[in-house]
Amino acid sequence: MRKIKKVVIPVAGFGTRFLPATKSTPKEMLPIIDKPIIHYIVEEAVKAGIETVIFITGRHKRAIEDYFDYYPELENQLLKNRKEDLVEMIRGISNMAEFVYVRQKEQLGLGHAVLTAKHVVGDEPFVVMLGDELIINQDKPAIGQLIETYYKFGKSIVGTTSVPKEDVSKYGIVGGKEIMESIRLVTSMIEKPKVEEAPSSSAIIGRYVLTPSIFQELENTPIGKGGELQLTDAMVNLLRKEAIYSKDIEGIRHDTGNKLGYLKAILDFALLQSDIRDDLKEMLFEKCEKFKEMDEKHF
Ligand code: G1P
Repeated sequence: MRKIKKVVIPVAGFGTRFLPATKSTPKEMLPIIDKPIIHYIVEEAVKAGIETVIFITGRHKRAIEDYFDYYPELENQLLKNRKEDLVEMIRGISNMAEFVYVRQKEQLGLGHAVLTAKHVVGDEPFVVMLGDELIINQDKPAIGQLIETYYKFGKSIVGTTSVPKEDVSKYGIVGGKEIMESIRLVTSMIEKPKVEEAPSSSAIIGRYVLTPSIFQELENTPIGKGGELQLTDAMVNLLRKEAIYSKDIEGIRHDTGNKLGYLKAILDFALLQSDIRDDLKEMLFEKCEKFKEMDEKHF
């Protein structure tokens, strides 16, 4: 079976939920303490053996290219100040993988973004990762769990998790037959269904392994929900020709695409950092006590 070496990461979206911050900073560059969100996504891919990162990008996303490039002026300045460790750290970012940037000239949906990568991916299986979901699993990166499943079956794999019923309309939802613990043979898929249309509460959470046959399906899939070319719709068409499996991803998931999820991710990552963990815990504890006092006074 062919080794999976390439990831496609669509980053052309406007990030309107974080305006005005995202007027000039790509949403993927918003920091989780001292690293931008996109750093964690690339790190997850690299840990899973990915060698080439293909960003599907847009006019306003140049900061992402700069982030993964060398920065000689900064390195020289740091060297003058004998900060070799920092030089090594920032150089390490550019050396994590080979980076390729493809412009998506129009924003016509996730399916369109993936199709834009066709000529760079070529005729090999690849992975797609969406930047809005951070999944923490120190031992087994989320995308690595899917790649491992791909090596078992040799077919496309979608990463899923169970969501509350009232949330099914926010996701692509997958119906299927469980064939092993946490793995299902997919029988149906629907993009952002109404509760009564959903075949299950198993939601696609921004991690995919796809066979290259997806490109032909994307080319022949009509525009779907929201006036966009939907990746889910192309997978429904692929399902008529090839098996697709779903794998429940193990890990702590953060939806950094909304404000509360983003804040929660920052707190969780901060609590993993030994230099700030104890002070942060104390600070949170004090704040909670203060809120309690305030509530008691009001009621
Ligand atoms: C996209 C996909 C959807 C998936 C979701 C995961 O939707 O179309 O199937 O469940 O990502 O985050 P979006 O959130 O980009 O609208």
